[in-house]
Formats: sequence, C-alpha cells, structure tokens
Amino acid sequence: MSTGADAIKVMKQQVGKAAADRVQSGSIVGLGTGSTTAYAIQFLGDRLKSGELTDIKGIPTSFQASVLAKQYGIPLTTLDEVDRIHIAIDGADEVDPQKNLIKGGGAAHTREKVVDSLAELFIVVVDQSKIVTALGSTFPVPVEVLPMAIAPVTRALEQLGGKPELRMGVRKDGPVITDQGNMVLDVTFASIPNPAELEKILNNIPGVLENGIFVGVTDIVLIGEIQDGQPVVREM
Ligand code: A5P
Repeated sequence: MSTGADAIKVMKQQVGKAAADRVQSGSIVGLGTGSTTAYAIQFLGDRLKSGELTDIKGIPTSFQASVLAKQYGIPLTTLDEVDRIHIAIDGADEVDPQKNLIKGGGAAHTREKVVDSLAELFIVVVDQSKIVTALGSTFPVPVEVLPMAIAPVTRALEQLGGKPELRMGVRKDGPVITDQGNMVLDVTFASIPNPAELEKILNNIPGVLENGIFVGVTDIVLIGEIQDGQPVVREM
C-alpha cells in the first residue's frame, strides 16, 4: 500500500464500508457529511441496489449528504416525518480517547449535531490521522455564527482566550456561507481541558448557532488504518 493520499483514500473507503455494513433493513439512517461519510453513503446505495438491504430512509445532515443520497438511490425523509433515528454515520476532524469529537471541517456541524445526537447508535468513521490525545491539538473549533453577530461573537471568543478566524471560501470570494445562511469562525484555543464546559460556554454566546465540539454523543468509533501495508478497520 502506498502512503499519502492513496492510503488515506483507501482507509476512508474501508471504514465507510464497515459502517454501511452495520445498517439493518428498515432503519432510519442519519447521513453525515464529508469525504469519509460519502463512501458510507455510496456503500449503502450499493447494498440497496443489490437487494441485500431494504426499506431504509436517510436523514441528511447537509446539502452535500442529500445530493449524494439521491445520486446513490437512498430515499430521504425529514425529522418532521419520523420520531426516531436508528443509526447515524458521520465523520470527524478529531476524536479524543473519551470519543469526544471536533466536527465542522465541512461547516455542517449544526445539522450534524441535531441528527447525530438523536441517533440511537452513532457511529463515527475516521482514518487514523483523526485520533488525538486532546481535542484542539490539530484542529480549531468551528463555530457557526449569525452574520449580523460576527463582530460581537469574535470579541467574545477573544475574551475567552480563543483566536477566531473567519472561514473563507475556496474558489469563491468572501466567507463560507453554511447551508443555513450563516458564517463560520474557526477558533484556535491553546488547550481545551474541559470540552463539555467549552461546548456549553460557546453556545451561550448570543449569535452562536452551534459549535463543533461533540461531547457524549458517540457510541462507536471505527478507525481506518494501514497495518503491515494492508488497510484494516478497528473499533476504538
Ligand atoms: C462536516 O462539517 C464535518 O463535520 C465532517 O464530518 C468532518 O469534517 C470529517 O470530514 P472528512 O471525512 O472529509 O474528513
């Protein structure tokens, strides 16, 4: 197995497949966002097409997830139509030893938190590069903010000791606009000793919709790794 981008792609594919294999017929499935979950959505579509899996409905966490679900033939529903989510599959930007997460690298963390927290079984799919000893060590905390509140929220985050940076678009001038029409501040903290407390403090700032710290939501973490040159999936 070559290293670098190819290896990461293979790890993401394997772990996406392993999560899709755990979905049972008749389930309502939370469909996460990002490049790893995209493989899970693709494999769910394959299982539906082969007839091995039947009667599932997806709840997308983003525009991207709903586009992929349609592309791979997964019927969609909404939280207005169903009263439970049996299983959700989603990626993460960081996973700590307590299975707490930083999410939001794709600016979808607000809807992801709604769907992932409601799921009776929440499976996180990551490659080995996402495993950290403490949240915040490699990735800033994404914070979704109402556009009219960007200035006061930026000041409040600085007062908390964070370094907020407005997320800018790629191949689009100006800031990233979320699926809900808001902006994202990526906030770097020197350390995050208490993720549960920081999650609450951030969400208590007027103008903040949601932040990317997920505490106590994850049930299972599946990690794609390369061992002895071969891709393997291990459960944390
Ligand atoms: C989307 O906003 C994020 O929470 C993604 O789930 C996270 O960034 C992981 O994405 P990748 O699987 O592409 O790394």
